[in-house]
Amino acid sequence: MEIINPFNTPIYKFESIDSTNKYGKELCKDNVENGTIILAESQTNGRGRLGNSWDSQKGKGLYYSIILHVKSSPNPHLITLFMSLALTDLLKDYSINAKIKWPNDILIDGKKVCGILSELIIKPHGRFIIVGIGVNLYQNLSDFREELKHKATSITLNTGSTIIKNFFINSLNTYIYEYYNHFLRGDFKEFLLKYKDRSSLLNKEICVRVHDNMINGIVKGFSDNGNILIETKDRVLSLNGGEVTLRDTYKRSI
Ligand code: BTN
Repeated sequence: MEIINPFNTPIYKFESIDSTNKYGKELCKDNVENGTIILAESQTNGRGRLGNSWDSQKGKGLYYSIILHVKSSPNPHLITLFMSLALTDLLKDYSINAKIKWPNDILIDGKKVCGILSELIIKPHGRFIIVGIGVNLYQNLSDFREELKHKATSITLNTGSTIIKNFFINSLNTYIYEYYNHFLRGDFKEFLLKYKDRSSLLNKEICVRVHDNMINGIVKGFSDNGNILIETKDRVLSLNGGEVTLRDTYKRSI
C-alpha cells in the first residue's frame, strides 16, 4: 500500500538511519516544506525524551517524524499534546482504549505503547517543530529489554493481530493533518478538554522530577499552554516539563 502525505509534501524513507528526528533537524537548515515526513525501518540511535534512547529494531516498530511549520504561534509545544490526541484517536480505530501520560506518552493499561519527542527549531527562515513518533507495533514480550518488560507494550500484544503498517501510517497522517489544522485555527478549549479526558494522571498522586527537585502532588488539570497543574501541600504549581511517576509506583521502586 502506498503511503500518502495529506500535506502533499515529501516523504523520505530509509532502511536504517541514526534518528529520523535528527534527519529532520538537518532538513530544517533549508526551507523544508510543511508536513515533510521521515520514515525509517530501523534507527541506530533512536532518541527519546529527557536524554533517553528509543529502541528501534527493524520489523518491530514505527519510527516516524514529521516537520510542521509553527510560524508565530505563541504555544508551539501545544502541538505535541494535539499529536497525543491524534495517536489515541488512531488507536481507538483498532479498538484500543489508550491513555495519555502527560506530556505525551501513550499508555495501554499503564504500559507505554508510543512515545513522542517534539523538538522546536528556530531559524532565521522559519519556526518548525519536529514531531518524532515511535510506536511499538509488533513486539512480543521477549522483544523488550528486561527493564522494559513490565512497562512497555505493543499493538500486537494488545490486539493479538499483526496490523498493516502502511495503513496505520496513512491513518496517522490523516489524524495529524486534521489536528494540525485545528491547532492553526486556535481551537484549543475543546481539545484540552479531550486531552484531560484521556489523561492517565488526572486526580492521581504523582511525583515529578524537575532537574534535581522532586515535587509531590495531585494532578488537577492542564493549562491552556499545555502545562500540568499540580496541587502540592501549599499551592498549585504549573509545570512545563519534567519526568512524572505515579506516587504508588514511585513508592514501590524506592
Ligand atoms: C519518548 O517517549 O521518550 C519519545 C520517544 C520518541 C521516539 C521517536 S522514534 C522516531 C523519532 N526519531 C527519534 O530519534 N525519536 C523519535
